[in-house]
Amino acid sequence: MKIVIIGCGHVGLVSAVGFAELGHQVVGMDSDAQRIELLRAGQPWFYEPDLAELLEQHNGNRITFATDLKEALVDADAAFICVATPTRPDGRLNLVYVEQATHNVAESATTPLVIVEKSTVPVHTSKRIIEVLEMDGKLGMIEVASNPEFLREGAAVRDTLDPDRIVIGVRTRGGTAEQVLRGIYAPLVERTGAPLLVTDLETAELIKHASNSFLAMKISYINSVAAVCEKTGADIDEVARGMGLDARIGPHFLSAGVGYGGSCFPKDLAAFLAQAADVGADMSILDAVRRINREQRDRIIDKVKQAVWNIDGKTIAVWGLAFKPGTDDLREAPSLDVIPALQAEGAHVRAFDPAAGQIAKSEFPTTDIVADAMTAIEGADALVVLTEWREFAAIDIQQVKDALRRPIVIDGRNLWPVEAMAAAGFTYLSFGRPDVVAGQVKRAGRN
Ligand SMILES: NC(=O)c1ccc[n+]([C@@H]2O[C@H](COP(=O)([O-])OP(=O)(O)OC[C@H]3O[C@@H](n4cnc5c(N)ncnc54)[C@H](O)[C@@H]3O)[C@@H](O)[C@H]2O)c1
Repeated sequence: MKIVIIGCGHVGLVSAVGFAELGHQVVGMDSDAQRIELLRAGQPWFYEPDLAELLEQHNGNRITFATDLKEALVDADAAFICVATPTRPDGRLNLVYVEQATHNVAESATTPLVIVEKSTVPVHTSKRIIEVLEMDGKLGMIEVASNPEFLREGAAVRDTLDPDRIVIGVRTRGGTAEQVLRGIYAPLVERTGAPLLVTDLETAELIKHASNSFLAMKISYINSVAAVCEKTGADIDEVARGMGLDARIGPHFLSAGVGYGGSCFPKDLAAFLAQAADVGADMSILDAVRRINREQRDRIIDKVKQAVWNIDGKTIAVWGLAFKPGTDDLREAPSLDVIPALQAEGAHVRAFDPAAGQIAKSEFPTTDIVADAMTAIEGADALVVLTEWREFAAIDIQQVKDALRRPIVIDGRNLWPVEAMAAAGFTYLSFGRPDVVAGQVKRAGRN
């Protein structure tokens, strides 16, 4: 089938290579001409595992990048809107790009197609899309569908090619939009057995916000439980394991630490809260989720103070700047709050991230961004871990101890076992687990 992707970003570009991999013909469009130039040359403008390789494989044959929308839309089966929907100051989503993209498609399309809302949007956005099509006299020739995206950055290609589920929202069950979307996803369903859920437009739109808010809630919940563990001597890793073995709860998103960030959870939560308020529904549970997540960033600073006493004048190494491993994305990352807070206390911060280092140089102009993990900790007074990159946990802790001026680690991602850090003689503060002070495990309420 022929698919046009509007907005070749983290979602659009990954979807494009995914659809090409399924055998479809894909045309990628983006309002940023520079990005289109890079993509034509086979270079994704952001890092995502396996993306460059897949792009190289399909670029120029199953995927092309174009600037002429009218031409791209000829005989296309579907146009996927994958543009950004950033947060406005009031928490609501800015849908200007979605509106622009819809108008562009409506004005340019000359043959029948389905316009697919893949960007994350509040419920009833599809209604506005339909109104635009009506205004432009294209409703009927152009059908509307919602197909929310659930990929995770850092595992985006894998998630696209092996999704947990595919959700499709349509106006009319069994109509053209459903048939086209089913056709597009048929090879994926056949290959992976992924369930394909067809709903009405509003339900599909809501599933996305409800899912992301639930996942964020799991993280804030486990962080609250971690705070209780710290006061009672219980161990959050074991608590989470014990909870996660219950099939009703599941093991995922139960990692205590410095909290979530990224372009999706904070934004989607704010938007869901705002929408609930608009329709007079009580979503105050999400207020608590947000507050707890914000407080985790203060808690890690408290832990640094607990470990090093005065931050002023100390050199603090930071491992991990991206909001999660496997990406160079810094949006809403804990590092954006934690590093300035350390600097405000008078610390000299030396930081390393395996992927986000280059981007971080402009984001953190007063921070010493170095090229490898060992250089970051050489002679530092303490190490703070903010992203759970696998390579950090793989470094020999004895080497870490030897490199640091003082063997102090404040771990925002619970990377190492407490006993191992104690045996190696560290002062080691993590989340929801006993503190280790100079190699001694200090269990609250036990000592
Ligand atoms: N990033 C994620 O992990 C993720 C996951 C699921 C859903 N989403 C949602 O998907 C949407 C896109 O997110 P993203 O992370 O891919 O954003 P992004 O910023 O990485 O990419 C958006 C792209 O759209 C382009 N664009 C903007 N307006 C355009 C227009 N009118 N015509 C053509 N191109 C235009 C931009 O230049 C940019 O390249 C958002 O609604 C987001 O919430 C994101």
